[in-house]
Amino acid sequence: MFSITCLFTALLALFGSVIAGPVHKRQGIETVTYLGSQGSILSGGAAAKGLVYTAGTVPSLNGTIVSGGIQNETAQVIRNIAVILAEAGTSWDYVLKTTVFLATMDDYSAMNEVYAAMLPDPKPARTAVEVGRLPGNFSVEIEAIAAIPE
Ligand SMILES: *[C@@H]1O[C@H](CO)[C@@H](O)[C@H](O)[C@H]1NC(C)=O
Ligand SMILES: *[C@@H]1O[C@H](CO)[C@@H](O)[C@H](O)[C@H]1NC(C)=O
Ligand SMILES: *[C@@H]1O[C@H](CO)[C@@H](O)[C@H](O)[C@H]1NC(C)=O
Repeated sequence: MFSITCLFTALLALFGSVIAGPVHKRQGIETVTYLGSQGSILSGGAAAKGLVYTAGTVPSLNGTIVSGGIQNETAQVIRNIAVILAEAGTSWDYVLKTTVFLATMDDYSAMNEVYAAMLPDPKPARTAVEVGRLPGNFSVEIEAIAAIPE
């Protein structure tokens, strides 16, 4: 099982490098590589033409999901995104759009309290949706699109 998965992953990686060709950097698109508080992730975001798109960011600290419930999780996600934005040369002040994924809409009000308190005004446009499952033992994941100031 393990070796088959391993082989499959290796083949995918090989195939991926063939698709990507010898130049690994996408022209004009910078990968934001901050891994600090998120642990092992593929990338924190991608930036081009004065914009950065973050990955769906989860409430981890040094690779471990924080405890303390939805409010603590929301605060950690917002801090993690702040670090990704900082690496891209921007901040929450320049975020244009967020998408909030909640494991259950029952957490909406509690999430919103922290979100409203931590984010600067005017708030970015936001979509908040309940998703059936998130890919780990956590209740919220947020992605953001931000302008990078000159
Ligand atoms: C996270 O890791 C950094 C660097 O190893 C360390 O300085 C920091 O204390 C850690 N934070 C927590 C909360 O474990
Ligand atoms: C999932 O997270 C909750 C809240 O942080 C915790 O109480 C529970 O033990 C965790 N479950 C697993 C399987 O890690
Ligand atoms: C909340 O999260 C922080 C990390 O952001 C953690 O240090 C703290 O223990 C958590 N609080 C609770 C009540 O679990």
